[in-house]
Amino acid sequence: MDKKEIIKQTEEYVKNIMVDKEPGHDFLHIQRVRKMALFIAKSLQSDVFLVEMLSLLHDIEDHKFENNDSVEDILNRLNIDEDYKEKILYVLPHLSFSKYPRLDDSFPIEGKIVSDADRLDAIGAIGIARAFSYGGSKNRRMYGSDDSTIKHFDEKLLILDQYLYFDISKEIAKRRMAILGEFYSEFLEEIK
Ligand code: ADP
Ligand code: NI
Repeated sequence: MDKKEIIKQTEEYVKNIMVDKEPGHDFLHIQRVRKMALFIAKSLQSDVFLVEMLSLLHDIEDHKFENNDSVEDILNRLNIDEDYKEKILYVLPHLSFSKYPRLDDSFPIEGKIVSDADRLDAIGAIGIARAFSYGGSKNRRMYGSDDSTIKHFDEKLLILDQYLYFDISKEIAKRRMAILGEFYSEFLEEIK
């Protein structure tokens, strides 16, 4: 199994699928998560190949978008060892915050790393931009309705720092949460 070649091919598949998705969930999101996950992984003992594969594949089967190839299809086209394939197929469905809004100590460390990286991309300035991009893509109001984007801040984004596994992620989250909080209060003030 040639890890470098597998990463390269996975990147190509994923880029093709994600490049023209809604700007909050496009290939640039995948690249940010990948970079952040590899950064977090530096200070921990983990399988970096698995971290990179999980990062690349984590939004392929997102329930918010009708899809595509399944992750299994993609893995079947790669010359990847069976135990990696099983691990990836086990971890990915558990990364969704909407389906599993809790921390799970028994989760493999590589899953924890990608979970933190994905959640860090949902807060801070980039998180604000992504939320409005996603809401806009669904034609939702910014405020004033039950499914407005600003409601998503209360329900998820403003509590997301409680769902991070590692100290280094919590450290990065501090500034991002402050920015999110400040934006939120200012937004409510301005719409008065
Ligand atoms: P998960 O799949 O883990 O639940 P999501 O894919 O829902 O995570 O979240 C990813 C991004 O989509 C985040 O930046 C989040 O703010 C945005 N998002 C998800 N649901 C909404 C929503 N209802 N309104 C605005 N943004 C949303
Ligand atoms: Ni994601």
